[in-house]
Amino acid sequence: MNQKRRIIIDCDPGHDDAVAIILAARNPKLELLGITTVNGNQTLEKVTRNALNVCQYLDIDVPVCKGLAGPIVRAAVPAEERIHGDTGLNGPVFGPLTKELDPRHAVDFIIETVMDSSEPVTLVPTGPLSNIGMAIRKEPRILNNIDEIVLMGGAYQHGNVTPAAEFNIYADAEAAHVVFSCGRPIVMMGLDLTRQALCYPEIVDRMAKIDTKAGKLFVDLMRFFCMTQKKVFGWEGGPLHDSTTIAYLLDPTCIEVKAMHTEIDITGGPSQGRTNCDFFNLTDKVKNTKVAVKLDAEKFWDIVEDSLKLYD
Ligand code: BDR
Ligand code: CA
Repeated sequence: MNQKRRIIIDCDPGHDDAVAIILAARNPKLELLGITTVNGNQTLEKVTRNALNVCQYLDIDVPVCKGLAGPIVRAAVPAEERIHGDTGLNGPVFGPLTKELDPRHAVDFIIETVMDSSEPVTLVPTGPLSNIGMAIRKEPRILNNIDEIVLMGGAYQHGNVTPAAEFNIYADAEAAHVVFSCGRPIVMMGLDLTRQALCYPEIVDRMAKIDTKAGKLFVDLMRFFCMTQKKVFGWEGGPLHDSTTIAYLLDPTCIEVKAMHTEIDITGGPSQGRTNCDFFNLTDKVKNTKVAVKLDAEKFWDIVEDSLKLYD
């Protein structure tokens, strides 16, 4: 029997998405079935190229499939160039790209892979939820074989693109609504949690001692990411948002969660894209989401360090 947890990462790399891929790909506890890409931090073309580059550089031999070039209802929000640069992954320099894209559309890849899997699959979205929302609508039977959706997105406190909303949810709120109301267990790594995963300069120095390709890539990524985070938000360390999803899968004790009813604001007003999390259970509605509230930062950075050491 396969003991590894089967996962698909649906992402928009993105510095923190790239680190999530690094944490997942070599870990013996996980079987990375594939990587799907979605418009978000940069255009679909750019984030897909970034995913391929990361896989090629680290010899990660999994299918990479391109997905939706924009949200399912509204116009695309501008790329997060202030944070991730004009390529979406500024910092590292990659060689000529030879790894080929898998010809399947991300939505079809997700459907086929989940339907064909002999064991339940965990979806790990770290970008806007367009592909996942579309896959659920196209083939709702996939829900029967999804054990959990562990995603980065939302906030029960403050947003980062509007006072109310976080980027991934805001970028495709209608898709997020489909996902959060799908009936499968959701684990939400929102900004409340990911702002505790701050990659301070001393963390970068610690990882710089790891003499592997993954260690080098991490450092190249984080030097750029921390610089833009300081410029935009004034923080000394950049929050490694997306990587918390994989850390949770590897060791759930590193993240404390609280079950809450969560619904997405899709009313088009000033709180469009907000994850309304019923922290105090005021509505008594079904607690459909485990919302992450507290990070054990020491354990988290140990997980990152151990993961970087798993590469050559
Ligand atoms: C999310 O938006 C992107 O900039 C990051 O990759 C992360 O997924 C944080 O709001
Ligand atoms: Ca992301």
